[in-house]
Amino acid sequence: MASLLGHELNQPLAAISSYANGSLNLLERAIPADLAADACDALQDMRTAMRQIAHQAERAGRVIKSVHNFVRRRSRAREETPVQQLLDAILPLVSLQARKLGVRVHTTVEPGLAPALCERTMVEQVLLNLARNAMQAMDAPAVSPRVLDIRAYRAPCEQPGGWIEFSVTDLGSGIAPAVAEKLFTPFFSTRPEGMGLGLSMCRTVIEQHGGSLGFAAHAPRGTVFRFTLPAAQGPCGAGDA
Ligand SMILES: Nc1ncnc2c1ncn2[C@@H]1O[C@H](COP(=O)(O)OP(=O)(O)OP(=O)(O)O)[C@@H](O)[C@H]1O
Ligand SMILES: [Mg+2]
Repeated sequence: MASLLGHELNQPLAAISSYANGSLNLLERAIPADLAADACDALQDMRTAMRQIAHQAERAGRVIKSVHNFVRRRSRAREETPVQQLLDAILPLVSLQARKLGVRVHTTVEPGLAPALCERTMVEQVLLNLARNAMQAMDAPAVSPRVLDIRAYRAPCEQPGGWIEFSVTDLGSGIAPAVAEKLFTPFFSTRPEGMGLGLSMCRTVIEQHGGSLGFAAHAPRGTVFRFTLPAAQGPCGAGDA
């Protein structure tokens, strides 16, 4: 089903990408030399937005391909990926939602952290899903301040190989015990528009890398989700799952 959906979505995505690139070309050509400064700024903003449309359409195509490979258990293309690059890939999308919900986003990567050895696009989706859940948990009138905190650091060396730990923390309403029991069950959701697939996908992706994903209550309120990934070269040697 996932592959079928991906297959059908590829056509409209390719169209979005080529319309965006076509519009970019038109914008380049349409700017007269004597254009007023404020109109120039507006065109510049449009160009930036258009570039983002093209970029995200291409990224969506990569996500579809990765999910397809993932469900077929094919081509485990693990790459050495600098952790900052994983965050940079999702931050434009996270920022859009954060702005809408009035959430401040903090990210911290420990200096000198080794790159992760991972299926880059799938891990980006893990981070994106956890960040989305965190922001949705803060989307209630009583929640203030609203802060999403994403960190990456060297995991404590309890097992051979180097490991990186990620944490995604929110200051939301927390997770009730009855919800906690079913959290990772496919199709379990407490949100009317939720598919209930995010966390089960996250756990499967992380476990396929040999890591683990869990959560804990965060004091004074909210929740922290943590997961581990093998480091390409860690403090205790090369990490491979
Ligand atoms: N950070 C969080 N704080 C509080 N509850 C959470 C948090 N993350 C997840 N949950 C709860 O876990 C449920 C399942 O999450 P999951 O991401 O699997 O599905 P979803 O967000 O409902 O839908 P989608 O498939 O669109 O992601 C959510 O509906 C929500 O009740
Ligand atoms: Mg979700």
